[in-house]
Amino acid sequence: MVRGITPLELARKPTPVSVIEGLVPGLRIHVKRDDLTGIISSGNKIRKLEFLLGDARSKRADLIITCGPVQSNHVRAAAAACAGLGLKLVAVLRGEPEPVPDGNFLLDTLLGAEFRFVTPEEYRRVDEVMEALAQEYGRKGFRPYLIPEGGSNGIGALGYARAVEEMAGYICDNDIGAVFCAVGSGGTFAGLWAGMQKQHIGCPLCGVLVADDIPFFRQKVSRIIHEMEPMLDSRLRVNVDELAFRDGFIGPGYARLYPEAVETIKRVAGFGIVLDPVYTAKTFFGMLEELKKTPCRNPLFVHTGGMFGLFPYREELV
Ligand SMILES: Cc1ncc(COP(=O)(O)O)c(C=O)c1O
Repeated sequence: MVRGITPLELARKPTPVSVIEGLVPGLRIHVKRDDLTGIISSGNKIRKLEFLLGDARSKRADLIITCGPVQSNHVRAAAAACAGLGLKLVAVLRGEPEPVPDGNFLLDTLLGAEFRFVTPEEYRRVDEVMEALAQEYGRKGFRPYLIPEGGSNGIGALGYARAVEEMAGYICDNDIGAVFCAVGSGGTFAGLWAGMQKQHIGCPLCGVLVADDIPFFRQKVSRIIHEMEPMLDSRLRVNVDELAFRDGFIGPGYARLYPEAVETIKRVAGFGIVLDPVYTAKTFFGMLEELKKTPCRNPLFVHTGGMFGLFPYREELV
């Protein structure tokens, strides 16, 4: 399916689909369980890392440099994958070290990642910060490979184009009316969109924003899709205005909870599925609100993981 990149097989795939019945009367909500891609590597990031680390390996890299907030799911998945592959990981983290490491950051620490902490202002130029680090480590004899925030570039997004191969049969056989996913750095949406185009899957893909705004993601996602084109060996026709993003569910800000998101975590947990506070709870809530406005049969929610992010929010959740 993909030209030029041989992915590593790191995730537990195919992930299963669970069905939630009774949360909304008369509606069967299908949940693609990408929270089950592995225990410590759980979530969407590991699918992107299969391609990114495959590319890193083919370039004989021995050091991975990436970035994210202190509680980044991506950094934790990268730390787990790198530890397993014997690669050193240096993460540029936005914020300050937690006095008592919690959630993802606790796991990063246990997995042997090294950190550089930067202020939110410095983080705005994080690509330059990572480039400077690459040069610094290069001088020490390392062969660094840089992974952008969330693993969201054309190579990382291939992981979700490939995930569509797992989902295509299910979508047809179960009369899925729309697919919903979170949009945090854009790679998951871009990959799903490209995979669905390539496989001529007609059902709509709706991305619920958990950060930034629609103009930002129209630009970023179309850039990622264009980067994927040669690797997918497909001509993908992107009309940026037709990329279906929904905003209005970020609440007071990225990674800040609000009552409806907390309520959604609790309601969905009653069906044995645990959402995370930063991405999937807001997205699930956004999906339910969207379905009130535009009902559809059999929505498919892509559960992109993030479970370790729950623990630092313990006081807001009980
Ligand atoms: C748990 C979880 N879900 C969804 C997302 C959003 O995916 P993407 O960054 O590919 O837009 C992220 C990361 O940003 C995440 O960690």
